[in-house]
Amino acid sequence: MSLLAPNREIADALDLTWVRSQFPSLSQTLNGYPAVFLDGPGGTQVPQRVIDAISDYLKQNNANTGGAYATSRHTDAMIAGARAAMADFLGCDSDEIVFGPNMTTLTYAMSRSIGRELKPGDEIVLTHLDHDANVSPWAALAERGVTIRMVEIHEEDCTLDMDDFARKITSRTKLVAAGMASNAVGTINDAKKIVQLAHENGAMAYIDAVHYAPHGAIDVHSLDCDFLVCSTYKFFGPHMGVLYGKREHLQRLQPYKVRANTNAVPNRWEWGTLNHECIAGITACVDYLADLGRQVQPSGTTRREALLAAFDAIHRHEHSLMQVLIRGLLTIPGRKLYGITDPRRFDQRCPTMAVRIQGFTPLQLATKLSERGFFTWDGNYYALNLTERLDVEKDGGFLRIGLAHYNTMEEVERLLTALEEIVNGERESRSSS
Ligand SMILES: Cc1ncc(COP(=O)(O)O)c(C=O)c1O
Repeated sequence: MSLLAPNREIADALDLTWVRSQFPSLSQTLNGYPAVFLDGPGGTQVPQRVIDAISDYLKQNNANTGGAYATSRHTDAMIAGARAAMADFLGCDSDEIVFGPNMTTLTYAMSRSIGRELKPGDEIVLTHLDHDANVSPWAALAERGVTIRMVEIHEEDCTLDMDDFARKITSRTKLVAAGMASNAVGTINDAKKIVQLAHENGAMAYIDAVHYAPHGAIDVHSLDCDFLVCSTYKFFGPHMGVLYGKREHLQRLQPYKVRANTNAVPNRWEWGTLNHECIAGITACVDYLADLGRQVQPSGTTRREALLAAFDAIHRHEHSLMQVLIRGLLTIPGRKLYGITDPRRFDQRCPTMAVRIQGFTPLQLATKLSERGFFTWDGNYYALNLTERLDVEKDGGFLRIGLAHYNTMEEVERLLTALEEIVNGERESRSSS
């Protein structure tokens, strides 16, 4: 059995030698094997310039904000720069960017604040496809008498049931929370349609773009979402979360905050001392992506244009890898690949594959792959509603293989060969014993 696909001539605009030279961790080896990072959905690797920005900040400018001396002023300027970088990344204004420790914490903060306005009988619509960080913070508002309604999925391809979505949103709906892409099965949702459905019914839309952010450009104005959250550690930056909120909401909603926090936006949403060194790393990670975009399209003038060019190239590269990987995975006897597998619909999925192979638990597969240098995940990755819905929670969830733009075709081919050896080797040893 060969899992390698014959056809891989798809155009690839990325200079992978340059890309990979930016990421020091990619040259590691494990047990004599080159390390292959297929764990991007859990957190991507970082370019050297992110590491430098973090350590340079600590070496030269380590201070709290708002002081009348050089390092504090530099810190204020550095944070303003990172806000501008994230505004370019999401297509909004700097004062609509809120920094926090991670997406989950930001979402709990926003859910508590929005919850202050809700009363018994109000409704919130959530989905079975979402990461629990976009479910539990909202579901907790049931304590206030708010009704939670869950949108169904089509099990056969792990897409959202948009008819059910339209049915579940009513004039009682105050908020719709949904993901842009699934961190388990890779499905990309029609976020623009979801926002539109919410707005038609007078509800706000809270979009989780954590999984989508490393794979595609985000434009919050075009989406017209009220809020959008992402985590920089999923797109080549440090461990931080970022929330975009429409200015009018950030001004109107009441945060729980200490009195000394000003009422200015976004400061009223950022409590205590932030992780300044990681914020320094955020600008560096956005600038890395912009430089990548300028390489493929030197005519782009603004950072935003460069970012759009970068994501265009990233999309094409990742799709060429995904085609070969999915085609190879589908030839494994006894496998079940979740999500969209029809190549004509690949624009509706990210290169994140959830798979199960008969005779192996996901943990066994991840462990065997890890011995050969492949870093993959097993379990539910907090997409708990989905693993429960698909009834795989009790059997260890799925093996997740997540591609990022720094992965190569050679790595994909080696992974398929490794899986072939693992599956064949195990089956042969079972049949001979
Ligand atoms: C789709 C999605 N949403 C939310 C989260 C939570 O993000 P954070 O770790 O920043 O809280 C994750 C983390 O894996 C995720 O994949």
